Amino acid sequence: MKVLGIETSCDETAVAVVEGNSILAERISSQIDLHSEYGGVVPELASREHLKKLNILLQECLSEAELGFGDIDAVAVTAFPGLEGSLLVGLTAGRTLSFLMRIPIVEVDHVEAHMFAGRFGDMDPPPGIGLIVSGGHTRLVLIKQWGDYLTLGDTRDDAAGEAFDKAASVLGLPYPGGPAIEKEAAGTDPGVFKFPVSRLGDSFDFSYSGLKTSVLYKVRYDLNEKVSEAQRRQIAAAFQEAAVTPLVKNAVRAAEKYSARWILVCGGVASNGRLREKLRDETEGKPFKAVFPPRRLCTDNASMVASCGEFYLNNT
Ligand code: KG4
Ligand code: ZN
Repeated sequence: MKVLGIETSCDETAVAVVEGNSILAERISSQIDLHSEYGGVVPELASREHLKKLNILLQECLSEAELGFGDIDAVAVTAFPGLEGSLLVGLTAGRTLSFLMRIPIVEVDHVEAHMFAGRFGDMDPPPGIGLIVSGGHTRLVLIKQWGDYLTLGDTRDDAAGEAFDKAASVLGLPYPGGPAIEKEAAGTDPGVFKFPVSRLGDSFDFSYSGLKTSVLYKVRYDLNEKVSEAQRRQIAAAFQEAAVTPLVKNAVRAAEKYSARWILVCGGVASNGRLREKLRDETEGKPFKAVFPPRRLCTDNASMVASCGEFYLNNT
């Protein structure tokens, strides 16, 4: 079954054609340059850009796969959560195609779809733990079966990626902040500055607002806005360490508690090299392993949406 995936929930316009666990073609257009001067996504600009790009990407993707609209068996489209105006662009395109071509449409949960990025690789069957860490979400999920989940924890305030973006902005680094912080932190001692690592008792929840405020206060009051290049690198490294530590701790605790076979990390922050390294270290010798999809499938993309849609078409 060839499923066309459409993703327009935030600042990436993406389409893909997926068949089983092979990606026949995928196209993605990032709006990072458009939003970077504002330090974050401007919703109205995002939806206009999706409108401009979606049809072009659809044509390119189908022609790369050497397919016409008539060869597509179903459409899967991100329906929620996301920016309303942006979601509407993808949804309208998907519903129109479904109506005109008389093919089924599956309206997909974007957060669940992130976990389907893992299904393009070799994965043992569940139970597993899903850690979805992106600009909008920080969620820990028990995957009892694909399609059957228990949410174990969520952020109580900011998302992890949002904290990376805000800390980067305080340090005068470009948007998106995650890759910029990781670059600054590379090879730098994370122990020169100390930031609080959130601990919320026995819960699997996360909190990032305290960490974000600590970075702000450090720069604004302790250093009086005068941050040397070396200090910027040291603050980035200390922040990164404090940001990834609770992700690793909660995920490992959850895997132990629920006898999981793996911890699947997805969403934009899953690209972070320090998170990958720390989780690999902490799972060594344990009966579960860390699984990271390739980086291009961690950030928003349409292949994960198509894969999620295909699963529901085959299993409901
Ligand atoms: O999944 P995604 O592309 O979009 C959302 O659904 O939010 O995630 C984007 C987020 C941004 O906050 C970005 O700063 C963060 O992922 N990110 C990273 C890295 N690459 C992207 N955070 C930490 N380290 C990275 N290397
Ligand atoms: Zn996402």
